[in-house]
Amino acid sequence: MQTDVAAFAPGRVNLIGEHTDHTGGRCLPMAVAMGVTVHGRREGDRVLLSSAEVPGVADIALDVADPAAVEPAWARYVAGVVAELRPEVGFTGGLRSDVPVGAGMSSSAALEVAVALALGHDGDVEDLARRCQAAEQRATGVPCGILDQLASAAARDGHAFVLDCHTLGRTHVPVPDDVEIRVVHSGQERTLVGSAYAERRAQCEAAEALIGPLRLASPADADAIDDPVLRRRARHVTTENQRVLEAADALRSGDVVGLGTLLDEGHRSLRDDFEVSTPTVDATVARLRAQRGVHGVRLMGGGFGGCVVAVTDPGALAEGWHARPGPGAHLI
Ligand code: GLA
Repeated sequence: MQTDVAAFAPGRVNLIGEHTDHTGGRCLPMAVAMGVTVHGRREGDRVLLSSAEVPGVADIALDVADPAAVEPAWARYVAGVVAELRPEVGFTGGLRSDVPVGAGMSSSAALEVAVALALGHDGDVEDLARRCQAAEQRATGVPCGILDQLASAAARDGHAFVLDCHTLGRTHVPVPDDVEIRVVHSGQERTLVGSAYAERRAQCEAAEALIGPLRLASPADADAIDDPVLRRRARHVTTENQRVLEAADALRSGDVVGLGTLLDEGHRSLRDDFEVSTPTVDATVARLRAQRGVHGVRLMGGGFGGCVVAVTDPGALAEGWHARPGPGAHLI
């Protein structure tokens, strides 16, 4: 049977809680209004998708064996989803995206989630996110966590949410109108493929071999690690997990100054303890932070370039994107 389908999945902003998801820690993401729309028909025995923005066609056999070898490169994410879902029927259609690519706003997660819905995924949002996380790993070889896909799949309009990446439990928190969230590109393109992401993840696992699960550890536990590198990595994760809860409280009470302070601390921790910032990103953070009405700025996403996120008074910053919290993925 031929079916007309349209599915939308948003990009995301992570207010705080960076490099915590892969150890089952906490994050505070929200969806943005920008996203990927996939439209077309379930038909045939291949998935055929063209993009309104980028050249080439994703032409994926339903039994695709190696998504990472597919060309063009953007089609690998489509292939990853096909390999995860193994739909019985193909798809012919197109996609549109207004999520900036290579910025740390999860354009690839938005693509995966929209494709999965368009192909007929009918499980719950946790299953949708897990399958799309696996699709991303198949497509890129990067052992990413579940933050991006779960944020895209499960966000609620007007809200950020505390995500427990161990249980996938979520507590939605309204974002007050007078707290503006602004995303600004550092000008440095970012890719996690070939970055030290996998190395950082391995270092977290090495720290866990010493002190147990980082999601249950305290900063004092981290400070007891002898190895200075592993100690710093663990200190970032354990302090960041605490900052997520404090940031959610600040958001709940409309305390933009307190929220900003936590973002500043989060940036220092990513820069000095987790060591995933760059001089270009640090300069962007410092430049924006010096402006009136800007209460906190930090690196967002996996690091090594990409965007920063700022909390500001309304209208304080002219550059970048005003990130308004939008709904999670859905069929249109
Ligand atoms: C990337 C990964 C996520 C998460 C962030 C860092 O976006 O895809 O799983 O680890 O980095 O918080």
